[in-house]
Amino acid sequence: MATEIPISTLFDLKGHVALVTGGGRGIGEAICLRLAQAGAAVAVVDMDETTAQRTAGRIADLGGKAIALQCNVAEPAADRKAVATVVGRLGGLDILVNNAGIFPFSPVTDTAPELWDRVLSVNLGGSFFLAQEAAKAMMNSGKGGSIINIASVDAFRPTGNLAHYDASKGGLVMLTRSLALELGPKKIRVNAIAPGSIDTPGAQAAMGAGASSGAKLEELLKGFLARIPLGRMGTPDDIACAALFLASPAAAYVTGTTLVVDGGYLVG
Ligand SMILES: NC(=O)c1ccc[n+]([C@@H]2O[C@H](COP(=O)([O-])OP(=O)(O)OC[C@H]3O[C@@H](n4cnc5c(N)ncnc54)[C@H](O)[C@@H]3O)[C@@H](O)[C@H]2O)c1
Repeated sequence: MATEIPISTLFDLKGHVALVTGGGRGIGEAICLRLAQAGAAVAVVDMDETTAQRTAGRIADLGGKAIALQCNVAEPAADRKAVATVVGRLGGLDILVNNAGIFPFSPVTDTAPELWDRVLSVNLGGSFFLAQEAAKAMMNSGKGGSIINIASVDAFRPTGNLAHYDASKGGLVMLTRSLALELGPKKIRVNAIAPGSIDTPGAQAAMGAGASSGAKLEELLKGFLARIPLGRMGTPDDIACAALFLASPAAAYVTGTTLVVDGGYLVG
């Protein structure tokens, strides 16, 4: 019957363990808080240990369970260690959110091989190697799980001066589909979220660096807003709610998809 799962348990993640990368601030922090609010034990993984601890502390203050782990997702050995630590300390892994990402603006003709490699290895390589380790843990448990990749509207429409980033996010959308195909029979669902313009510390810094003066920054923001039918920037929690849906029993039959959360930017 359609109402077999009571509404009260549709978004219930009690007994689940989640690993969220880039959980120290911005979108990642909001995802950690929502998953913890739904009852999951959360491993807050970030390159910056201080902010990871701050998010874990916020979860503890709200009565949830969290641990903080320092990890550079661009290093496959560190990814292996992070997943092993989470399984060892929290007893398993049911939800992986590949959120850590960097978006340094750089025109095509100025982009050095080192910058290309760094962006691809954080945004795409890190997501692949963490998914690989998480999939093994989810298969070992026999319970399956949910992997969520934070892509971007830039996977579908370029912003400009971000060709390296756009390529990494386009790759992440196709990686999501490939993983969904291969891991579905193991009861592992794999989906992506494509956020539009979300007000985070990283976005503010990137826009500030992309604009040479205060006036230009204002122009940039006005330009963005003019193209968003809902007329506002997104909040980190707008993305966290989408991640909660994809992680939850409410999305039990959803895999291989990319959920666009952009205030309508891509239809404009
Ligand atoms: N903010 C936006 O408008 C927007 C839009 C589309 C997509 N996204 C994507 O959402 C994700 C989060 O963006 P945000 O705006 O919250 O960024 P942010 O810069 O505010 O936060 C990113 C977090 O990731 C961590 N991090 C960066 N590199 C890491 C690494 N190598 N290993 C581990 N942790 C690392 C940082 O320390 C930071 O805590 C990114 O993947 C980004 O591409 C953001």
